[in-house]
Amino acid sequence: MLEVRNVSKVFEKDGKDFVALQSVNLTIKDGEFMCLVGPSGCGKTTMLKLIDGLVPKTNGTIVLDGKEVNGIPSEMSFVFQDINLLPWRSVQRNVEIGLEVRGVPKAERERRARQALAMVGMEADYRSAPYQLSGGMQQRVGVARAIAVEPKVLLMDEPFGHLDAFTREILQIEILKLWMQLKTTVIFVTHDVDEAILLSQRIALFQAKPGRLVEVVDVDLPQPRWEYDVRAHPRAIELHNYIAARLNAKEAD
Ligand SMILES: Nc1ncnc2c1ncn2[C@@H]1O[C@H](COP(=O)(O)OP(=O)(O)OP(=O)(O)O)[C@@H](O)[C@H]1O
Ligand SMILES: [Mg+2]
Repeated sequence: MLEVRNVSKVFEKDGKDFVALQSVNLTIKDGEFMCLVGPSGCGKTTMLKLIDGLVPKTNGTIVLDGKEVNGIPSEMSFVFQDINLLPWRSVQRNVEIGLEVRGVPKAERERRARQALAMVGMEADYRSAPYQLSGGMQQRVGVARAIAVEPKVLLMDEPFGHLDAFTREILQIEILKLWMQLKTTVIFVTHDVDEAILLSQRIALFQAKPGRLVEVVDVDLPQPRWEYDVRAHPRAIELHNYIAARLNAKEAD
């Protein structure tokens, strides 16, 4: 279980204090798929970075399985929106990065990197350079790099944001299947309400100015979600309308 307790983040912006997140309280269960949704600037990326220790908290605590998280926890891995593969490394060597940082020996690194690449359907391209891959393929490698370390918690920041709609739909289903197989906890940021409804078990809705969590919505739709047209499901339409109204409300509280 991952607990975000009373976490706030104040940045200095143009010489003034700027509240990016105000007192967020959120509990994510083991193995849960949770999406964070909200308008641009509401603090979604900041929330993920606070959880992963990439940005220091101003206030509050993050607790994983009863232990306070400080620094960059080895149980978590991050998939960034801008794919950021190292251009001078092969696909395989890119996937090994997290394992290197964790001091995994070479042979074991290679084995686990290949295994992770196979899980995202990229095993044939392990020798390629990043520039030889399409955007969708690069993002698959980004996912492989994150799962290679077998994280307890997988943090994903709009990972399919700049892919075309067709590739995005394929990767959405792949990530769902991967999640079911690995039983990892996933925290996935998106501003696409339909993507959140397709993927998650619960959706945390954020508002801006100041950035804050306003509500957590249960996505009570049947699994597996790839076996039917989720968007056409009456409950999904209801959820979509509710969330859209909630996010557009001026005085959302
Ligand atoms: N390092 C920083 N210094 C100052 N302000 C920052 C910093 N990082 C983020 N902010 C501010 O905090 C707010 C939240 O930013 P964040 O990137 O978390 O938003 P977001 O919800 O991920 O938005 P988007 O959907 O556009 O990615 C923004 O107003 C941003 O300008
Ligand atoms: Mg962001």
